[in-house]
Amino acid sequence: MVDVIVGLQLGDESKGKVTDLLSENYDVVARVQGGGNAGHTVVVGDKTLKFHHIPSGVVRNKKCLLGAGMVIDPKVLMDEINYLQDNGFDTSNIFIDGSAHISLPILYPFLDGRQENDREVSIGTTKKGIGPAYSNKHARFGLRFWDLVNNLNSSQGIENFGGYILPLLYSRNHVDPAENAAMMWQDMDVILNSYSFIKNMIVDGRLFIKEHNDSRILIEGAQGCWLDVDYGQYPFVTSSCTTATGACLGTGLSVRNINHIYGVAKAYTTYVGNGAYPAEATKEDGDYLREKGHEYGTTTGRPRRCGYLDIPMLKNANQINSCTEVFLAKVDVLTGLKKIKIVVAYDLDGKTIDYVPSNSADYARCKPIYEELDGWDELPTENVKYVNDFPQNTIAYIRKIEDLADCCINNVSYGPERNQIVSGYAKWS
Ligand code: IMP
Repeated sequence: MVDVIVGLQLGDESKGKVTDLLSENYDVVARVQGGGNAGHTVVVGDKTLKFHHIPSGVVRNKKCLLGAGMVIDPKVLMDEINYLQDNGFDTSNIFIDGSAHISLPILYPFLDGRQENDREVSIGTTKKGIGPAYSNKHARFGLRFWDLVNNLNSSQGIENFGGYILPLLYSRNHVDPAENAAMMWQDMDVILNSYSFIKNMIVDGRLFIKEHNDSRILIEGAQGCWLDVDYGQYPFVTSSCTTATGACLGTGLSVRNINHIYGVAKAYTTYVGNGAYPAEATKEDGDYLREKGHEYGTTTGRPRRCGYLDIPMLKNANQINSCTEVFLAKVDVLTGLKKIKIVVAYDLDGKTIDYVPSNSADYARCKPIYEELDGWDELPTENVKYVNDFPQNTIAYIRKIEDLADCCINNVSYGPERNQIVSGYAKWS
């Protein structure tokens, strides 16, 4: 049985919390795409844990697979493992698919920065080297964890790696290895240090999945639907497949294996990037949401652009991902707003449209069309058993979203703690 968690907006929807909540009922939790650009936050008691590569299921000591579709920075991974150990978590159940690509810690962020500078309008990437890692992968120059296994177990292989494989990769990226030897040796150092640390975690991911045929597997998506390299606002996207389909691409699973698809959306939107953002809030509302919702990048610390809930986005993402149910997160952040706007459609050159156009130039000209709902002053902070225990205006807001976005909001999260969520069948009782 395989279920998938996917973001329905622009990343940072609270997928970490949802994964932590659901993973209790699974045996394996896997990440399938992205890499150090992701930042998944899980709050357990008085601890706030942040992950970039390791699936959030690690805090429940589930088997955690870093799938073939990922690009992994070995230095960040090593730091994450140390951080987990320092916080008392067991890390013996972490597995890395040997087919996953290595995101070189020095060369790729350097290229990422250079490419951003060369663009007329920069994308606003996380500068973690994600674009270069995926470009090298698809150009078939990339380094995989298998390359470490194949080379770093002998002194001859290590020599080959440092003397030939790495310099070739630098040259292919138009960075002279001789002129940039210091950089290259830093990459080499990290790879050597981290390899001895992680080599026992490297597995054949496809076999791993096959061996867990009878297990319950949960796939933790990273980023969000509208950052998808094909369906997002190109080029203001990340370089991987962020929709539910990515679960198959990044593990070797078939689409026929997938059972539930859990979509996660925030009760408002945020975006970190330089593309168009029709739902962007007024400065006053944006500042309110940012401070109240702690909307600063987990990976970069950048302040996130904040906006209203965007129905065309949510509705289309729900369709693209074919979600069986939706988690609505962070409704508590809206508490205190007198009026809450929802973007119900766009005006594109005088015509009302209710979808996200795939032509980025059209999307950039979309103006929001709002509906305004009354806000609420207070929300319970614990023991909410049913959505009907929320204030009337909160209930109206949730129902409105379900109606307009044509989705089934089966879970409502009203705070960062594990127990601050109304779930499943108890939703409306
Ligand atoms: P990259 O993935 O670092 O290349 O960045 C491409 C775009 O995706 C930028 O707008 C980033 O801010 C955005 N992005 C990448 N990862 C995340 C994430 O985990 N959350 C939110 N935005 C992200």
